[in-house]
Amino acid sequence: HLKDSEGYGKLGDSINDYRAVTKEELSTLESSTINLKHAAHGMIFAKKSNLLWNLYDQKGLVMMQVRFDGLLGFPGGLVDDGEKAVDGINREMHEEIGLDLHKYSFTENHHIACYYQEMKKMILHFYLMEVSPEDFATLEQKTLSAEEYGIETCGIVRVPLFTMGDGVRGFPAFLANQFAGNARAELIHGLLEAKLFSESEMGTALKAYKDYAE
Ligand code: GTP
Ligand code: MN
Ligand code: MN
Ligand code: MN
Ligand code: MN
Ligand code: MN
Repeated sequence: HLKDSEGYGKLGDSINDYRAVTKEELSTLESSTINLKHAAHGMIFAKKSNLLWNLYDQKGLVMMQVRFDGLLGFPGGLVDDGEKAVDGINREMHEEIGLDLHKYSFTENHHIACYYQEMKKMILHFYLMEVSPEDFATLEQKTLSAEEYGIETCGIVRVPLFTMGDGVRGFPAFLANQFAGNARAELIHGLLEAKLFSESEMGTALKAYKDYAE
């Protein structure tokens, strides 16, 4: 089984700063923590088997972004005061990638995890939404006219979901980038939850990443 600590970034935040919390723990934290902040980020994905260069099986499409701070992360952001997490993620998705909220919007059903960062007193909500491969490509095009494009969003990226012949380039090497918050852990979690990777495929990729990066 994968350890929670597999995914965390190295920049700024320490591995032990984040822990997954259940809904019950969340309400306890909400009633007992002063100045608790919330953020909400989401993984948009499509299932599409694609043989790249007639060689590598790319099982799907996953959207991340290069952020203003140079780190990789999911679109999303801070939940405003008085706003619900699900409304926050929809607003941020519109600002950062120009998501058409009449056509696609995140609901409670897309919420798959909550993490708590003790030091920042911040709850990080993570959402997962599947779209068709055609719609995924359309959403990518729309990001270029999002209001935050060129500001908070320096560009969206497709995560390489394959491993090349050397066993490292592709997904394992992608994991060696720097990620905002616990976005790397969320990526791993999201890929498993979306069933784009099996546990054993993920285990192999994480081992390759570790041999390469650590
Ligand atoms: P502003 O509008 O400039 O405040 O930015 P924002 O509301 O878009 O906030 P941002 O996306 O930077 O997220 C706020 C917090 O969440 C920061 O502390 C980040 O470290 C963290 N964060 C950023 N991206 C991700 C991500 O993909 N996943 C998780 N879990 N946290 C992230
Ligand atoms: Mn070329
Ligand atoms: Mn934002
Ligand atoms: Mn953001
Ligand atoms: Mn914001
Ligand atoms: Mn903003």
